[in-house]
Parts: sequence; structure tokens; C-alpha cells
Amino acid sequence: MIFRQLFEGVTSTYTYLLGCSRTHRALLIDPVAEEVDRYIALLDTLELRLVYTLETHVHADHITGSGRLRERLGSRSVVHRDAGAMCADVLVTDGVPLQLGDVEIDVLHTPGHTNGCVSYFAGDRVFTGDALLINGCGRTDFQQGNPGTLYDSIHQKLFTLPPDTLVYPGHDYHGRTVSTVKEEMEGNARLGAGRRRADFIELMHSLKLDYPRFIEQALPANQACGRGTTPPQG
Ligand SMILES: [Fe+2]
Repeated sequence: MIFRQLFEGVTSTYTYLLGCSRTHRALLIDPVAEEVDRYIALLDTLELRLVYTLETHVHADHITGSGRLRERLGSRSVVHRDAGAMCADVLVTDGVPLQLGDVEIDVLHTPGHTNGCVSYFAGDRVFTGDALLINGCGRTDFQQGNPGTLYDSIHQKLFTLPPDTLVYPGHDYHGRTVSTVKEEMEGNARLGAGRRRADFIELMHSLKLDYPRFIEQALPANQACGRGTTPPQG
């Protein structure tokens, strides 16, 4: 499997490129609108054809690149059926895999940050979006967020994967790139090390987080699958 981890610095967003070396088919997980030229140059260099763009959820902090990539390359956008973006080309649900040449991607529904959050599991790695972050987790105070639901998703869907599974998050604000299920189960400050569900819920309700900078532009644009949008200026 061809793999690249790409970073967008304004919103500290990770985008992932997965490709099949036999069929030259590729997908991008959580592309960012402003970075589309960079993705296309990389796809050209690697001689890959973009087939899918996968969203882990409807983002509140950046505008998806899926609309622009669809216009320029004909790729098909993929979201969970509960994400609130019915304009997507493919709606996925838990347990129904996506096939990319020889690469199989399992869809795990991991709600709690939003209703329509999914994690994508491919071989030895899982792409967790804003559900499980490295030593943290996504916020649960808007977009149908629910800390109890998030706790259950992480404990029942992600912490039951093989312990050496690589965890690739949707963001990191401290320069970290990858973790493992075992590391998060043992050391995640919010919900690892045996932290109880009730304690996690209380912790999440006590967080005083800033309102997301770009939410007014990003949410409606992403609910429209990134069509006809002007990215916010940093
Ligand atoms: Fe998010």
C-alpha cells in the first residue's frame, strides 16, 4: 500500500493519501480545500489516479477539498450516512468495506464528536478523524457531540483493534504524527489508563473551549460537500 501523511498548518489538519501499487488507484482522507494543488501534484508524481475522497466527518474547522477534487479529477466523495452531507457520492455505514484495488478499508462508525464520525481501518492502521486524537480526543460540545457516546465508540470500536494498530488522527497541535492503540489505551490523558465513563463525561463537560474560528464558513460549506466555496483566510 502506498501511504503519505500530509499536514495543513493553519488548522493543524492531517490528510492521508492511500494508494494501491498494482492498480494505481488512490484515495485521500480529509483533504483540505486550500491544499488541492499540492495533492494533485503528489498524485501526478506517484502516478496515481484519485478515485475517492473520504471524510471522517463534517468538519467545523476547515473546508473539505472533496468538491474541488471532484471537479478537477472526477473523484467520488464519501461520508457516513449520518454525517448530514447527503450531497456525497457514496454514503457509508459501519461494517461495509471500501475497496481500492488490493487495499480494503473497513468503516467503523465512531460517533460522539459528531453523529456521523467514522474511522477508517486499513491493514495495520486506523484513521480516527476527530474521535481519538493522540493523547486526547475530539470535543463534544457542539455538532451533536456527546461524551458518553464518544467514550463508547473509542472503547468498543478503537480500543478493541489489535494493540499495535497505528493510530493516525485528524489533527495534532503538538507536532506528533502517529501513535498506537496500545499507547492510547495506556496513556491517553482523557480516556485511557482505565478512566471510567462517568469521569470522562464530567471531564468533557468541564472543558472551556474556544468557539471554532472557521465554523461559520466551514460547516455550511462541508454540508454542501465543499461545492462552490471560498476557503476561509487564515
Ligand atoms: Fe471535527
